[in-house]
Amino acid sequence: MPETVSVIILAAGLGTRMRSRRAKVLHRAGGLCLLEHVVRAALTVAEPENVTAVVGHQAELVRAEVERYGIRFAVQTEQKGTGHAVLQAADTPGVDHGLVVVLYGDCPLLAPETLRRLLAAHQASGSAATLITTHLDNPTGYGRIVQDEAGRVAAIVEEKAASPDVRRIREINSGIYCFSAAALWPRLGALKPNPASGEIYLTDIVESLRRDGLYTARCVVEDAKELLGINNRVELAEADQIFRARKVRELQEAGVTIEKPDTVTLDLDVQAGADSVIEAFAQLLGDTRIGEDCRVGACSILRDSHLSDGVTVHPFCHIQGAQVAAGAIVGPFARLRPGSEIGAAAHIGNFVELKKTKLGAGAKANHLAYLGDSEIGVKANIGAGTITCNYDGHAKHRTTIGAGAFVGSNATLVAPVEIGDGSYVGAASVITKDVPADALAVGRAHQLNKEGWAKKRRADHKTSKG
Ligand code: UD1
Ligand code: MG
Repeated sequence: MPETVSVIILAAGLGTRMRSRRAKVLHRAGGLCLLEHVVRAALTVAEPENVTAVVGHQAELVRAEVERYGIRFAVQTEQKGTGHAVLQAADTPGVDHGLVVVLYGDCPLLAPETLRRLLAAHQASGSAATLITTHLDNPTGYGRIVQDEAGRVAAIVEEKAASPDVRRIREINSGIYCFSAAALWPRLGALKPNPASGEIYLTDIVESLRRDGLYTARCVVEDAKELLGINNRVELAEADQIFRARKVRELQEAGVTIEKPDTVTLDLDVQAGADSVIEAFAQLLGDTRIGEDCRVGACSILRDSHLSDGVTVHPFCHIQGAQVAAGAIVGPFARLRPGSEIGAAAHIGNFVELKKTKLGAGAKANHLAYLGDSEIGVKANIGAGTITCNYDGHAKHRTTIGAGAFVGSNATLVAPVEIGDGSYVGAASVITKDVPADALAVGRAHQLNKEGWAKKRRADHKTSKG
């Protein structure tokens, strides 16, 4: 039977170097919080019930971010170091046997493939512990790997405690380890706090094993970027940039054209179909999916929205929680708010805002309109300046506009109200009553023309001046 793999993710620290009120692992890169990236990596090698996140600082907020993955949590009430943090997970069912992988919640770029390599290297070497190391041109801030004469890992020395010689070592501890449970727990419990900081360092386990004649193997990773530990805002921005670049490449390889790729922001879970074009400075965020042959215009922001095939979003649109069917055209400068559904080949033009509104296939609202809590039939035409008055100060009310209806410019539709199929609403009408199908509704003051009035006024003005 293969050995059980448990993963313990350390995420209890505040992260002082972030200079933030928010716990470090809650900060976001690539559209997800740091911890979520690590949880996803962990789940590629272990079952959810075998993954434990050690939380402490802002425990409830941190837990809420990743709870949906079905993992377990352990609490470290006082942050007394990485070794102490791992000990808090010692009672989790399953961790007392098999393999225990330890990950740090601030190391989000780790590739699942590397984790699998770590497990394979550990099993192949038969060591008590295996750690991932890499070589950095600038190793500042990381624990250094000190070797013995035989080139084996002798100790991990933290930056603060390092002599000038040790500081020159370029091989660093990534903070990703695999332990044999039987070797880990008794020694971890016996580690002494570091005399300078008072913390219990997980890294001291290496020397503890060695005292008992057990060696720590290493698994060297070439791509050092993958092991970037985020301790400050500069590193956070670096990680974000790496995620964005990876995502750009993934979509390009899937047949998407991305103009000025350095300027676009693509969250990790975004999907886009072949032959779609994403213009400069566009942002596709959260659970946004776009079909084939779409165009997302410059500076448009799409969040949690789905576009079917052949949709055009012109520049400067803001689209959130909306669905847009095939061939529809949106923008420029349009706003689709949550719950909006745009039918096939429909048109939404500039300065049009929709909220919880379903627009039928082929319908058009081309200029300056607010359509809220509405259902608009197929091929209806909504004139410039049309407003649904959906809110009376207490409650929201619905507007229904039938198929093929024509709503003239500047109509004010006071909800709840229903405009029948094929009806006409005269421009500038205030509509407070339902309009029957195929009727014309005009709700505005009658026009009065006073013949010669202006001419007389001009003449009067001249006389009084003279
Ligand atoms: C740690 C390693 C260092 C390594 C580096 C890699 C130790 C002592 N040092 O240093 O060798 O090169 O990571 O990025 O392990 N945490 C807790 N509880 C605590 C302390 C920390 O949960 O009491 C968590 C933090 O939330 C964080 C992770 O452990 O996610 C690492 O802590 P951090 O303070 O960032 O350690 P580094 O100084 O980066
Ligand atoms: Mg760190």
